[in-house]
Amino acid sequence: MDRYCVFGNPIAHSKSPEIHAAFAAQTGQALTYEKRLAPVDGFAAAVQAFIAEGGKGANVTVPFKLDAVKVAQALTIRARAAGAVNTLHFTEDGIVGDNTDGAGLVADIVNNAGVQIIGKRVLLLGAGGAARGVVLPILEHRPAQLVIANRTVATAEALVEQFAALGGEGVVSACGYADIAGAFDLVINATSASLSAELPPVPASVFAPGSLAYDMMYAASPTVFLQFAGQHGARLRDGLGMLVEQAAEAFSLWRGVQPATAGVLQSLRDQL
Ligand code: ATR
Repeated sequence: MDRYCVFGNPIAHSKSPEIHAAFAAQTGQALTYEKRLAPVDGFAAAVQAFIAEGGKGANVTVPFKLDAVKVAQALTIRARAAGAVNTLHFTEDGIVGDNTDGAGLVADIVNNAGVQIIGKRVLLLGAGGAARGVVLPILEHRPAQLVIANRTVATAEALVEQFAALGGEGVVSACGYADIAGAFDLVINATSASLSAELPPVPASVFAPGSLAYDMMYAASPTVFLQFAGQHGARLRDGLGMLVEQAAEAFSLWRGVQPATAGVLQSLRDQL
């Protein structure tokens, strides 16, 4: 049976085995998917060991997404743009590194939440790894404007410079929180602030009537960012759907079959 796994440290909390088992059952694909705890300084060796055991592919989570760039012998365009790899495919031609996080976010927004990005004003909060991973997939959906706001403005400016040449010219811009101007149709929190129950200092005026506020984090109860957005009239969505959709994108890359996601998402939601 074809073998897959997710590498992380820690890894005990990962929902990926459950998600991929559900996809495999639903599509009739014969495969196994396990968790693998890799030593912090031993990611490359862990990958080679898994390949030697017959592994066909792997997902990669914290803290190995940058190590996975180095392990890959070829990168997809979106992995190169993200500067990070969350999906490895062990092919006859070598190790291919991909990044399905941004496609997962966009699929959750467009297909599951039913919010189109084309022609919209989008505000992305944060300019770290999580933000960088979603810029190209958002730009591919042709927003009217993509503003990247960050505490450290220079980091956001560096992202703008990187993506100007990749379809973002005239569309993508950077600013600090105090300089965010106007209201947005879609506000995405890609900062790590929710992890420490902090709120990025975003003005309440960013939420246009009918806007969608999206937090890439998820928890049993709404994050402080979603609570704030809800108080100011936005529709709310957390990152559980992104988790399921990035997995679906990886599954489809490995198996050539697109799994349905709604049932899996509901079942994870029920367990939170
Ligand atoms: P990740 O991989 O989760 O993106 P990261 O690369 O360390 O992690 O980036 C963290 C992001 O969250 C950065 O944009 C950071 O802002 P700075 O670049 O100014 O540090 C942002 N961030 C973290 N805590 C925050 C807070 N309390 N308020 C606003 N932004 C915060």
